[in-house]
Amino acid sequence: MYEKSIERLNQAVGEELAAVHQYMYFHFRLDDQGYDLLAALFKKTAIEEMIHIERIADRILFLKGDVKLVAADEARQIHDVNEMLDFACRSESKAMQMYNQMAVECGADADSATKKLFESLVEDEERHFSQFDNEMDQLKKFGENYLALQSIERSKATYMNPINRGSEQNP
Ligand SMILES: [Fe+2]
Ligand SMILES: [Fe+2]
Repeated sequence: MYEKSIERLNQAVGEELAAVHQYMYFHFRLDDQGYDLLAALFKKTAIEEMIHIERIADRILFLKGDVKLVAADEARQIHDVNEMLDFACRSESKAMQMYNQMAVECGADADSATKKLFESLVEDEERHFSQFDNEMDQLKKFGENYLALQSIERSKATYMNPINRGSEQNP
């Protein structure tokens, strides 16, 4: 009875998994270059996409389906920061459209709980979109200086903090 919903939910799992992989790839690259702020944003967003997978998987199991943990796409090896943000904005707007569409379809199939799940995912993806879009604006406005500033902040934090005594200082 809920086969269509389970199919849509599994398609969503694949897209979310691809997003987790892609954002973690961006995180590694940005972290390596010392761009802490953007590296942290991608990691935080990857974790949120992982939580999406968890919520979707819960629903699939409730509907007596099984979770297909297969990424919809391979992570692209994008190195340019502007291209990363552009890719992320496009992925988020694709996700927004997909979940809006899926919510409508689940509504038509009288599966209102899955519809609500998709609607709540739309809200999160809209927030992700707006965060990446803001970062893209900042980068356009301040250019390379925006990235340089993040590197300088990393160096300041690394070299100017008192000697870290591990767990003693961070209970
Ligand atoms: Fe998501
Ligand atoms: Fe997202």
